[in-house]
Amino acid sequence: MIKIRKVKNSNCPTIIRFICKSIKGNIVDFKAEVEEITVRYEKEGTVIYCGLGEAEKCVPIDIRAVTMRAVSQLKKLERTSVAVEIPSINLDRKEVEKAIIDGIIIGSYDFSKYKSSNNTTKLSMVELIGAQLPDAMIKKEIEICCGVNYARDLVNDNAGVVTPQYLAKEARKLEKNGVKVSTLNHLELKKKGLNLILAVGGASSTPPNLIIMEYYGNKKDKKVHAIVGKGVTFDSGGQNLKGTGHIETMRQDMAGAAVVLGLFLAITKLKPAINVIGIIPAVHNAIGERSFFPGDVYKAYNGKTVEIISTDAEGRLILADAISYGIDKYHPDIIIDIATLTGGIITALGEFVAGLFSNNDDLANKLFMTGEKTGERLWRLPIYKEYEDSLKSDIADMRNISKFKKGYASSITGAAFIKEFVGNTPWAHIDIAGTAYRENGFCRDMPQFATGFGVRLISNFLEI
Ligand code: BES
Ligand code: ZN
Ligand code: ZN
Repeated sequence: MIKIRKVKNSNCPTIIRFICKSIKGNIVDFKAEVEEITVRYEKEGTVIYCGLGEAEKCVPIDIRAVTMRAVSQLKKLERTSVAVEIPSINLDRKEVEKAIIDGIIIGSYDFSKYKSSNNTTKLSMVELIGAQLPDAMIKKEIEICCGVNYARDLVNDNAGVVTPQYLAKEARKLEKNGVKVSTLNHLELKKKGLNLILAVGGASSTPPNLIIMEYYGNKKDKKVHAIVGKGVTFDSGGQNLKGTGHIETMRQDMAGAAVVLGLFLAITKLKPAINVIGIIPAVHNAIGERSFFPGDVYKAYNGKTVEIISTDAEGRLILADAISYGIDKYHPDIIIDIATLTGGIITALGEFVAGLFSNNDDLANKLFMTGEKTGERLWRLPIYKEYEDSLKSDIADMRNISKFKKGYASSITGAAFIKEFVGNTPWAHIDIAGTAYRENGFCRDMPQFATGFGVRLISNFLEI
């Protein structure tokens, strides 16, 4: 655990110093480009200079990104403590300080569980020179980032370790400080008619379950928000088996669930005055003789029948049951689902922004603005009638993928499918298939492998 504290001055012999182009001075061979770093040994100690580029163009993402670079440099230098000089630039001071804290905690994350030699030096003390953020806000930022790193741990670990049962066990560990956890096992799911979750999870020796976390931190306020996270612990594609090149990273398919758990970890630490329900449908989409099959029809919890065209479009199925059950049981004022739902969102938006879909403009706008503020950015796509109509089935009420040509608007039709299960509840769907996991190294403030994308977004949206 890293200790971060505010100080007026520091004697720490290792210093992080941010530099914009205009105040670069004469540091040789250093241009102060965005994310550029250089180490200099000076009288006051070891200084890691961090480039911020042109002051007028600098955004918190630049600060977060370069802080992360500096933190990996500290690891190479084997430093356990560092002093950070807060830069004076023309940005909201609070956001600058928060971005630095993010960069330190998210940047010092290391998934080394499967490395035989793991003796890297760990950063343990950070002094923020001249920081103004109140202590409570520093604590909040730290706990939210610990939630991010926890979500990353859950996504990075083996699919054989992080099973539906493991997710339930992790949720139960968070049963403290007002958080109540309950799980429906496969027998209870059957009794209650959550047949879509059962269909997707049926082939695996690790049976499906529905994990529910309740937190009522503000008894005076009747408002309850529900956050639903897709928890496919491995997505083989089922009978529509995924091929080489697509299947290798599918342990990431519970990244939405990891966001919910990361959020609740932060909630147990911060005990915020809000009411929130976390819902995780947890399944392993396996291939096997007890699996569901293309062509099958299943009845959802809300009574709608669904024709399965592809067993690989499984996320929307489990979300449909989890959402209609959550609305039925907890009557949330707002429901948000977060899911690695479609490869199509990677084609549409790439790896730096998640897809946003909603039946409510105010909710969509608020989420969008939270994305701009946190740097976990969202871009909204439409759900028009034509897309909804493409999900009509001849044999059942709906089909699980559209009638469109393969690959056409798959993210939108996926969202349109889920929309059929939300009724009038204000709802938003966040497709994180492009942002949850980075195969090919870090970029900007997005780390390699699991990113934890969504924890900071949802935590800030809920104002935990
Ligand atoms: N889990 C995948 C989506 C995904 C793709 C997540 C890449 C992360 C990275 C999802 O269940 C899926 O397989 N979606 C299909 C839907 C299609 C059958 C309509 C897809 O996107 O190809
Ligand atoms: Zn799939
Ligand atoms: Zn999936």
